[in-house]
Amino acid sequence: MKRKSIVFFTGAGVSAESGLQTFRESKDGLWNNYKIEDVCTPQAWLKNPSLVLDFYNLRREQCKAAKPNKAHELIALLEQFYNVVVVTQNVDDLHERAGSSKIIHLHGELMKSRSTIDSKLIYKCTESIHLNDKCQKGSQLRPHIVWFGEMLEDSKIDEAIRYVMECDICVIIGTSLQVYPANEIPSYVTEKCQLILIDPNSVSHSLGSKRVKVLQQTAIGGMEELFRNLI
Ligand code: OAD
Repeated sequence: MKRKSIVFFTGAGVSAESGLQTFRESKDGLWNNYKIEDVCTPQAWLKNPSLVLDFYNLRREQCKAAKPNKAHELIALLEQFYNVVVVTQNVDDLHERAGSSKIIHLHGELMKSRSTIDSKLIYKCTESIHLNDKCQKGSQLRPHIVWFGEMLEDSKIDEAIRYVMECDICVIIGTSLQVYPANEIPSYVTEKCQLILIDPNSVSHSLGSKRVKVLQQTAIGGMEELFRNLI
């Protein structure tokens, strides 16, 4: 019998219980302590590259110190029973370290750097990036992150939409669904697809008329319940 397929669409909340901050929560959200326009735009990079590098160097150190939590692990474990694809807005590598094998990073990856003159020149990056760290063509290295005002890779969006359109179950975890165009991807599920949303807070979403089963729990609690129901 053909295995069923599950797409997990994840955001910062799936890594919250690993100790990584989300972006938009009232007290601890990263965007309460930094202005997006200072650290996460092409203009910020032109104006003050050191500040941008410092911001992502700190994020990388925090990511390295964090460990995948049980939610990441259960998502990876489900590969033994289902065809699983993770579509994530997160730039951390916790899904990889938990053992997931098919991951689409819509917003880039902290553990990679790239050339500023040739976006195809991408490097593994486990340590800080400094001013004057150069790519093989001699240009400054930057974080491999999609900043506000930059385009997501079309091929990644297309691939993510294709998986969402074909899946039997789509599970949204830990995202406020506020950032376009990523937030539109789950709305491509078909009528036959079971749509589940795991978040401890209420999320206003534009999933249209689609029926959504909400598990108002943290990522770990929600994934434990889902796992029991799926296996
Ligand atoms: P947000 O910070 O906007 O939303 C985080 C979501 O996680 C919220 O809905 C929280 O309620 C939920 N949450 C908090 N704790 C949780 C927990 N323990 N378990 C499960 N959920 C929890 O983060 P994203 O939606 O991921 O982009 O943000 C999207 C994009 O905006 C990010 O990829 C980033 C940011 O600016 C870029 O930097 C390009």
